[in-house]
Amino acid sequence: MMTRREFLACSGSTACALLSGCAASTPLSKAGFRDFGGPDQPYLGLATSLPEEYDYAAEVEGVIPAGLRGTLFRNGPGLFDRGGLRKRSLLDGDGLIQRFHFHDHGVRFRNRFVATPKLVEEAAAGRFLYPTWSTLAPGGLWNNFWGPGRIHSQAGVTVFPWQGRLYAFDESSLPFELDPVTLETRGESRLGIASEIPVIFAAHGKFDPLTGEWLHFGIQYGRRVSLHLTCFAANGTLSRHRIIDLPRYVYLHDWFVAKSHVMLSLHPLEVEVWGPLLGVRSILDSLRWRPEQGNLLLVLARDFSGVPLLFPTEPSFMWHSVNAFERGDELIADFVGYADPDHLVGPGAAANAVMTGGKGRGHTPGQLWRYRIESGQKRVARELLATGNFEWPRIDERGRCRPNRFVWLCAANPDEFFWSAIQRIDLQSGQRTRYDFGAGCYCGEPVFVPRNSAVPEGNGWVLTEVYDSRTRKSLLAVLDGERLADGPLARVMLRHHVPFSYHGWWLGS
Ligand SMILES: [Fe+2]
Repeated sequence: MMTRREFLACSGSTACALLSGCAASTPLSKAGFRDFGGPDQPYLGLATSLPEEYDYAAEVEGVIPAGLRGTLFRNGPGLFDRGGLRKRSLLDGDGLIQRFHFHDHGVRFRNRFVATPKLVEEAAAGRFLYPTWSTLAPGGLWNNFWGPGRIHSQAGVTVFPWQGRLYAFDESSLPFELDPVTLETRGESRLGIASEIPVIFAAHGKFDPLTGEWLHFGIQYGRRVSLHLTCFAANGTLSRHRIIDLPRYVYLHDWFVAKSHVMLSLHPLEVEVWGPLLGVRSILDSLRWRPEQGNLLLVLARDFSGVPLLFPTEPSFMWHSVNAFERGDELIADFVGYADPDHLVGPGAAANAVMTGGKGRGHTPGQLWRYRIESGQKRVARELLATGNFEWPRIDERGRCRPNRFVWLCAANPDEFFWSAIQRIDLQSGQRTRYDFGAGCYCGEPVFVPRNSAVPEGNGWVLTEVYDSRTRKSLLAVLDGERLADGPLARVMLRHHVPFSYHGWWLGS
């Protein structure tokens, strides 16, 4: 009679025979990656783990503007390796929170990992124990069967202050609450929602600055794929929640929230679910880009009532929306779109190649696009707003859900995956301004901070974290949001590097 382990090994072999390429999702050997790389691989510092946690007064070059007082929180993957093994994607690591506190005498820096159960258990064991979205757990099928149920949150995508507390989010889970000063992890949180309500959260919640509401979506993957919509009122209580079945088994990262509508762009990046379920292939290696199916835009009233409308349109992969708003009878939604997510999916994809020291092949650039949907019409108009090689769009958050004029983005040079410049685009005039940090320097999402609450849109500063491969250290650059080309007003110099970081949020003092 077979033991359970023998049965799983046997059924794993059968499943592997039926699912080609399943061996591709096993952990990499750390021995195959040289931290920081060589002179011809300047970007590899972004794929190098930062296991240390720090707390110090950072040196400042230049002058911090007198009005810039408050705290920038950032989140992103900080640890890619453990026990001689390594994750397969740059977009897969334990969540590392950074805190830059701007006060009257300088800037205090602190970084700390989110102490998720996954991190705590793996740190104690000295090795990876669980599968993650790009990489199976070591140990074969025994440790990976029914994979999605074994994937634990790494709380490593976004970080938001809310109601005096701080929360770190992953892609498809509950957030973790942190101490806003010490960054100590307080534990997983349901954000005050009763346990009988089955909520799940993606990373990109949206604050409406006028109503004070906080809106979230989440995707529940199971036999069916369900969309969770959640809205908190300004006083922090749950305002509404609805679950809707989706017509596609789709991987989604961000969405759109306007004054009166919400919208999801169901791009044709589908998850072939049997590989992860059987534990023979990661979710990343189960993503399939099917452009022939086009996009479906799902539009719903912002009170989550009524039947969702579906609008077919051309295929376009999206990581991040810019903003959405109504103008007259039109719903307008701006985003960075890709004709093909070949930086993520397929052989040689740049986000994966970097984990073994490679650059990956040239990828399809992210462009600035706009959807326009006229009320009562069945058709979507799609308009290219700006060509380039963009990602990480941010706006002046005071204008979210309403018409905005400016967007700040990271821009990469042609054929580069990583971004070396910050660019502002004026959506009214089309005018662009830009600052390039130069060869071997790589910048991240530009967080806009208004000079004060009363100034016009765009009057303020832009904060971007820059990895400088020449020093193998990172810095936080402070630029005038209206005069990017003048370069940084100040540089907050870190004593070490910070790997690839995703998203930040500013909390004024
Ligand atoms: Fe994101």
